[in-house]
Amino acid sequence: MEGSSLKEKTNINITSIREAFPILKRKVNGKNLIYLDNAASSQKPLSVIDAISEYYSNEHSNVHRGVHYLSQLATEKFEIARSKISTYINAAETRELIFTKGTTDSINLVANSLGRTLQAGDEVLITEMEHHSNIVPWQIAVNDHGAKLVVARIHDDGSLDLEDFYKKLSPKTRISSLVHISNALGTINPIKEIAKAVHEYGGLLLVDGAQSAHHMKVDVQKLNCDFYVGSGHKMYGPTGIGFLYGKAHLLEKMHPYQSGGEMIADVTFEKTTYQQLPFKFEAGTPNISGAIGLGAAVDFIQSIGIEKITEAESELLNYIQLKLSEVDGIRFIGTAKEKAGVVSFLIDGVHPYDIGAIIDKMGVAVRTGHHCTQPLMKRLNIPGTVRASLAVYNSKQDIDILTESVIRASKMLRK
Ligand code: ALA
Repeated sequence: MEGSSLKEKTNINITSIREAFPILKRKVNGKNLIYLDNAASSQKPLSVIDAISEYYSNEHSNVHRGVHYLSQLATEKFEIARSKISTYINAAETRELIFTKGTTDSINLVANSLGRTLQAGDEVLITEMEHHSNIVPWQIAVNDHGAKLVVARIHDDGSLDLEDFYKKLSPKTRISSLVHISNALGTINPIKEIAKAVHEYGGLLLVDGAQSAHHMKVDVQKLNCDFYVGSGHKMYGPTGIGFLYGKAHLLEKMHPYQSGGEMIADVTFEKTTYQQLPFKFEAGTPNISGAIGLGAAVDFIQSIGIEKITEAESELLNYIQLKLSEVDGIRFIGTAKEKAGVVSFLIDGVHPYDIGAIIDKMGVAVRTGHHCTQPLMKRLNIPGTVRASLAVYNSKQDIDILTESVIRASKMLRK
């Protein structure tokens, strides 16, 4: 079996990993589900589902506001989850980890809060490979404050044009915000090196980790980024929960983003003082079950080992590229040397949507379209792509079925 050869090579027990995901047993359109839309959202292991169920069955109450048993229990579980995630990304302090709704919410928090300090003449530097969540919040911030959005170019293979990035960095750059791993191309950006350059000009660096936190070891202190953001639902956790990591001395100076309960220390009609970190940025009742579920997702990742996951996925990436090369008329979009488990492609004379719709009938889930990166698609002069994106539970057999399905679909569409 392909699955067992993967096990031998990577020391990952793919069979038992797949067993942990109930949804992988279901059929779609009468066929076994082959789930390759992990960059949009990954599936959930039973341990995450159980943690949420246990919370609502036995532990639920509001957090940080009750002396009673259940409120204290829920608070403890919520704060343990925070601590697990902050340890996972190696934050220096737990209070540097703010729970948010996800990557988009986290970027909006920083763009709004830091955005208030932008002035005419200031610049925000992003790249051509950003998804809409890392473009639009900055566009709004610079427009509101008379600053300027500057965009660094990419090369045709989908790697960042570092020369152009460094050329566009200047003392005017207040913040640079860029993706760690591109959701549309799989490109891995050299964050450590970029952080150094941004800091030399006195700027700050936000890293969009939506596609990296669960695929590679992330150490925010080693990367030396100022902010790092992620989404729970992409890392085997629930939807509606994510996080913002920020260096404490920066978060301390930042203005609250949303206001209301939880984030206050003292309120009068004249004046309000705010809570300490992290609560200053967590207005209202938080997503308690989501945080607990995300904590369980981090436990799941660590039970396998992130280094082993990276190794297995990189092996599978080589395999998928090799197998899909067999398809007539295929063109890969995004062939950077440093690349993670995302394969975007087009087939001559066929619209990506049609491929996606036909292979769905064969039980294969991929994403088609612009992947929330319209400016990137425009830059590459393409309407969109078919995108297969990997997770720890994908096997070589999944890739074989994907390849057969794409061959069948393209024969039907090209005849
Ligand atoms: N950014 C997500 C994706 O790539 C939604 O599908």
